[in-house]
Amino acid sequence: MSRADRLAKKLFIKTYGCQMNVYDSARMADVLAPLDYAAADGPEDADMVILNTCHIREKASEKLFSELGRLRRVKATRETEGRTLILAVAGCVAQAEGAEIFRRAPYVDLVFGPQAYHRLPEMVARATRAGGGVLDTDFPVESKFDYLPQASKESPVSAFLSIQEGCDKFCTFCVVPYTRGAEFSRPVSAVLEEAQGLVDAGAREITLLGQNVNAYHGEHPVGGRATLAGLIDVLAGIEGLLRIRYTTSHPRDMDDDLLALHGSEPKLMPFLHLPVQSGSDAVLERMNRGHRVEHYLERVARLRHHRPDIALSSDFIVGFPGETEADFEATLALVREVGFAQAFSFKFSPRPGTPAAMMEDQLPEAEKEERLARLQVLLTAQKQDWNAATVGRRLPVLFESAGRHPGQLVGRSPYLQAVHVESPGVAIGEVAEVVITALHANSLAGREVASSPAAAPDKGDATRPCV
Ligand code: SAH
Ligand code: SF4
Ligand code: F3S
Repeated sequence: MSRADRLAKKLFIKTYGCQMNVYDSARMADVLAPLDYAAADGPEDADMVILNTCHIREKASEKLFSELGRLRRVKATRETEGRTLILAVAGCVAQAEGAEIFRRAPYVDLVFGPQAYHRLPEMVARATRAGGGVLDTDFPVESKFDYLPQASKESPVSAFLSIQEGCDKFCTFCVVPYTRGAEFSRPVSAVLEEAQGLVDAGAREITLLGQNVNAYHGEHPVGGRATLAGLIDVLAGIEGLLRIRYTTSHPRDMDDDLLALHGSEPKLMPFLHLPVQSGSDAVLERMNRGHRVEHYLERVARLRHHRPDIALSSDFIVGFPGETEADFEATLALVREVGFAQAFSFKFSPRPGTPAAMMEDQLPEAEKEERLARLQVLLTAQKQDWNAATVGRRLPVLFESAGRHPGQLVGRSPYLQAVHVESPGVAIGEVAEVVITALHANSLAGREVASSPAAAPDKGDATRPCV
């Protein structure tokens, strides 16, 4: 095969689910780059398609099979032209459904779970040589992180870095402990090396990822284990790295050091996604969340003590089995008390194999929908208020990409809000002081102001929304 033929291979990865899947998809592309797979614009253009799937809520498998049905036709067309299309299913549905995928879609070539990505070149070779399906849903003894290559030469300004994977908490509604396996933390040295590589490749902001990122307990080079606070402390020393974020945290693992770090480490951004799920102790108990409402509120109060302007985000599940109107109203009360800058809210979805799916007192769909709508009215109003309260403030914006108008750049405020600025005097990857001038549907508009040491950036006060 000539070099030109080899270079003609194209890869298309479609990513569903959480940021960890986004990170994993990028690493799969890195693993396949030495096999001369370059990025394709779409499945029609590709020699290999990977669906990186998510199993967290309903209809994940149905969505997968209808997508596979479409790809089957692309593959058939390709075969009439004498070419092949390798079809692969990765991610959490692959882990959960395994061989069932080959049974229902025998034209699929590869099915592999999140712990097998480093073995992708070998799987591709096996599928190409032998034909037929290759399945890899083991939890191998070796860690994929030790085998994945360094991230590619160019990084986005804001990059993801997985530092922890898996979960031992076993919330009764959740599939993650089954699809991602037991909790595992990467050593500090490995994280530091990857972070430095990302910064060298252009990253200015890094979001540390983990299913329970604040349960991080990676080996420390000086011995013992580092907490997330300890790790962030080390990473903050990287020159050129301007901003650090982390997600997703569990309220139980929000320790005092981490809370305090929000007040003392300027690179740690004042935005925290801290899922609470419900405002009712009875529901939290049946969810096996391992904390009460009071604990959550106490952690939030401490956080605000250390960093008064912090913006909070959360996840909510409504209509958990046995949730009464009073339980639901307790959730509304918690939302009113805390005040969220943004949040994700979901109807409870019974996931096969999880304890909550087998609980009695499952709620009717209509009731779940009605409660979700009521919660979302409140959360949307809080988000609006929070964003509106930013108008007129002066904030440092880190620019990440070009906007739609000539000269316009789009960046993020410290609170993760998207901000559009016309012709700022800085480049992508740099920070400018911006006065927020207007609120749009999903973003803010701003105008750059000349920095002057006398006028310190506005750190805000406790401008939490109050609805
Ligand atoms: N590790 C994180 C969340 C991971 S899943 C944590 O502990 O909070 C992301 C979100 O999906 C969850 O916070 C939850 O709100 C939602 N979710 C998970 N399983 C769900 C289910 N069975 N039904 C509805 N929402 C669910
Ligand atoms: Fe799922 Fe709970 Fe683990 Fe989060 S903490 S990943 S919700 S089991
Ligand atoms: Fe989905 Fe798996 Fe992430 S189930 S949310 S892709 S960990």
